[in-house]
Amino acid sequence: MEVKKSIKKLFNKFSSSPDRILVTGGMGYIGSHTVVELINAGYEVCIIDNLSNSSVDVLNGIEKITGVRPVFENIDCTDYVALDKFFKKYEGIKAIIHFAALKAVGESVERPLPYYRNNLTSLINILELMPLNGIKSIVFSSSCTVYGQPDELPVKETAPIKKALSPYGNTKQICEEIIHDTIHSNDKIKSIILRYFNPIGAHPSAEIGELPNGVPNNLLPYVAQAAAGIRKKLKVFGGDYNTPDGSCIRDYIDIMDLAKAHVCAMKRLIDGKVESVETFNLGTGRGLSVLEIIKTFEEVNDIKVPYEMADRREGDIEQVWADPTYANEVLKWEAKESVKNTLRSVWKWQMHLMEQEEDHTKGGGMISGS
Ligand code: NAD
Ligand code: UFG
Repeated sequence: MEVKKSIKKLFNKFSSSPDRILVTGGMGYIGSHTVVELINAGYEVCIIDNLSNSSVDVLNGIEKITGVRPVFENIDCTDYVALDKFFKKYEGIKAIIHFAALKAVGESVERPLPYYRNNLTSLINILELMPLNGIKSIVFSSSCTVYGQPDELPVKETAPIKKALSPYGNTKQICEEIIHDTIHSNDKIKSIILRYFNPIGAHPSAEIGELPNGVPNNLLPYVAQAAAGIRKKLKVFGGDYNTPDGSCIRDYIDIMDLAKAHVCAMKRLIDGKVESVETFNLGTGRGLSVLEIIKTFEEVNDIKVPYEMADRREGDIEQVWADPTYANEVLKWEAKESVKNTLRSVWKWQMHLMEQEEDHTKGGGMISGS
């Protein structure tokens, strides 16, 4: 690890000028893991984040893993003027990866307007500022939620986009359309849209991972907190679906595999291989049920997950998994990590969080987001 860090520092010192990439939302879950992979691949990374769902401590984790502390500015992407200033300050940005968004499906149903304002305005600002600052390439974080319940599984990128089941899902559909329309009107801009399935896990070092705010909405943080005794019981939302064991099926993809796909996308854009817009599914191609995830988590970590069957959660899709062939062939990328290892990394991260919390409590503080 130490040798790797020294080589990277030497590389950065002597290489003429690594490509500079702006990562919006780079302090968040997927963004921080992608920043690590971008740095490891030799890119210079700048991060913009308003810390609405992340903590500045993430920078320490990134630095511990890579030996590099990327530039970070606390900027809200809905603030056009602040963004413009940023682009003037950090000239020469080659490409953008735009993660910054609000992402809680249920919350978006209760409070749709902040979702539309945040997710749409951020993207529009960035797309407007790109040509003004000579930036031609953008990777956009979309979601398999755009497919709703697909008629055919595994779902391909060419599957019809159905009416979104939530305002959050709608923002992803509209953002994809905004990107298409923008590039139709300005053929100098190129984009890769990545439709993520269900990212889970943490960096193997456990220096960074998912930091859910308050009670987790997503399955794995809840599983880990229930196993740790922080939550009483996990509720399995629905046992009467038309699936082999009655619980919902998803395509759970390791966070490091997902992060690596962004490096492949970035390389393809910077190499000038994208003609206008390309859209890729990022998944493993394999569906697992909620009950299978719980069972495997228990087995590999040798710990019980207290759970009970509960009513269906409104808006949940019964089953979805990816056909990742297009990404495999064109991005030359595939998801490699086993779900067992990924579930080990979930537990390792949970234990890291608890150790940190213990240290902070002894010191009189609390860690954010736990
Ligand atoms: P996250 O909440 O951990 O990260 C998003 C980051 O963006 C946070 O650090 C937040 O503080 C920041 N942010 C939000 N609005 C901002 C704004 N206006 N200006 C600046 N920063 C802002 O979420 P994540 O899981 O890392 O998701 C990243 C992207 O991937 C999002 O666009 C999300 O919709 C998409 N996505 C996530 C999943 C998933 O399951 N995690 C699945 C599909 C798509
Ligand atoms: N689940 C439970 N109990 C819980 C939490 C989740 O049974 O406490 C179940 C859900 O019902 C679902 C599965 O676990 O069947 C996965 O649920 P998540 O909330 O972890 O993930 P979703 O598939 O609902 O949504 C996630 C992200 C969205 C994204 C979507 C598709 O939260 O942002 O994947 O990419 F849009």
